[in-house]
Amino acid sequence: MKVRVDPDRCQGHTLCAMAAPEVFELSDIDGHATAVVEDVPAHLEENVREAARSCPEQAIEIS
Ligand code: F3S
Repeated sequence: MKVRVDPDRCQGHTLCAMAAPEVFELSDIDGHATAVVEDVPAHLEENVREAARSCPEQAIEIS
């Protein structure tokens, strides 16, 4: 599984970082998230799916 955050959609709601703190990091500058893990390890996949479901902006892209 691969994951990325669409920087144009992210509005800094932070729910992704709560669901999968190992994968999503919030910028100190604008509060927007980036995925610091591109290839998601199997044991974090469910957390990443949960993050994608919880993002109000649908900014998290899973492939
Ligand atoms: Fe951004 Fe959505 Fe996370 S808006 S900070 S990707 S919950």
